[in-house]
Amino acid sequence: MPEEKLKLEDLLGSVQRVDETERIDYVAIIGGGLMGQGIAQTIASAGLDVLIVEVDEEHIKRSQENLSTSMEREISRWSMTQSEMKSILSRIKWTVEIADVAECELIIEAVDENYDLKMKIFKSLDKIARPNTIFISNTSTLSLTKIAEVTNRKDKIIGMHFLNPVPKVPLVELVRALETSDKTVEIIKKFASKIGKKAIPVYEYPGFITTRAIVPLLNEAMHILLEGIATAEDIDTAMKLGYNFKTGPLEMADSMGLDEVLAWMQTLWDTLGEPRYRPSPILRKLVRERKLGKKTGEGFFKYDADGTIVH
Ligand code: NAI
Repeated sequence: MPEEKLKLEDLLGSVQRVDETERIDYVAIIGGGLMGQGIAQTIASAGLDVLIVEVDEEHIKRSQENLSTSMEREISRWSMTQSEMKSILSRIKWTVEIADVAECELIIEAVDENYDLKMKIFKSLDKIARPNTIFISNTSTLSLTKIAEVTNRKDKIIGMHFLNPVPKVPLVELVRALETSDKTVEIIKKFASKIGKKAIPVYEYPGFITTRAIVPLLNEAMHILLEGIATAEDIDTAMKLGYNFKTGPLEMADSMGLDEVLAWMQTLWDTLGEPRYRPSPILRKLVRERKLGKKTGEGFFKYDADGTIVH
């Protein structure tokens, strides 16, 4: 009889432990740029609390302003109400202290596409976060297996490749690194569905599905422009009318951020060695001039404060 009692207690204990690891109500996001803001809005819309970590107060201010501007744009298009915006913002907090993420049940990294930076962040998170907390990276092209190496929780590292604009795109690629456990995959699949995203599982490989397929198209559009075959406006119009694209490739690159697009192309070119990924010189030139697209007001096109092309 005591033996049976023990078994029952063991069983109850393990059920509690499973619940504990799977409960995700409070999510940290490292990096409050374009993607961090969109991910935060999406998660907060699903009723979860979010803490965004940024480098300094100036970046926090910019992040808050950009997030508010993009939600106000949604309100003006009737796709959001004032009270929805208010309730989303009430669930998002900002901090400059990475140590504040200690109590979060899930951590999503969305900083610049750079190995050294991401690895430095994962290394410190590994010391700060609870041992059972899963770490997610939003990288588009970098190896999660390599990033995971700096942690002591390789089974709990996984990629969630959200696409811009995150609140509008119903897809997320779920990227499995070499040592990601089945349990981590299951938990994150459920999390994706909770925040309204369809998760497509992919194995780790530079660019996964979406970045790998779109980058050569963006690059080709840039080559067409550079070779003087058509204007930027006509290239985008031709692709929109010809192939039923909602956005032309050059405006799409501007929306993604030309520095990010260049970083993806560079990684794909370095790791896969295919000429189709070699970044167009015009992209390098714009990035050198800090014309990074919508986020700086100019890239292939010029934009007003609302992010609309100025003709
Ligand atoms: P972004 O440049 O808009 O934002 C990056 C943010 O990270 C900046 O605000 C920067 O201040 C912050 N940051 C840098 N170091 C930090 C640190 N130590 N602690 C806290 N914050 C820090 O870049 P974006 O576009 O949001 O990209 C972020 C990641 O998402 C990249 O890995 C990119 O490849 C990926 N991604 C980007 C997409 C896009 O369309 N832009 C689409 C899918 C993925």
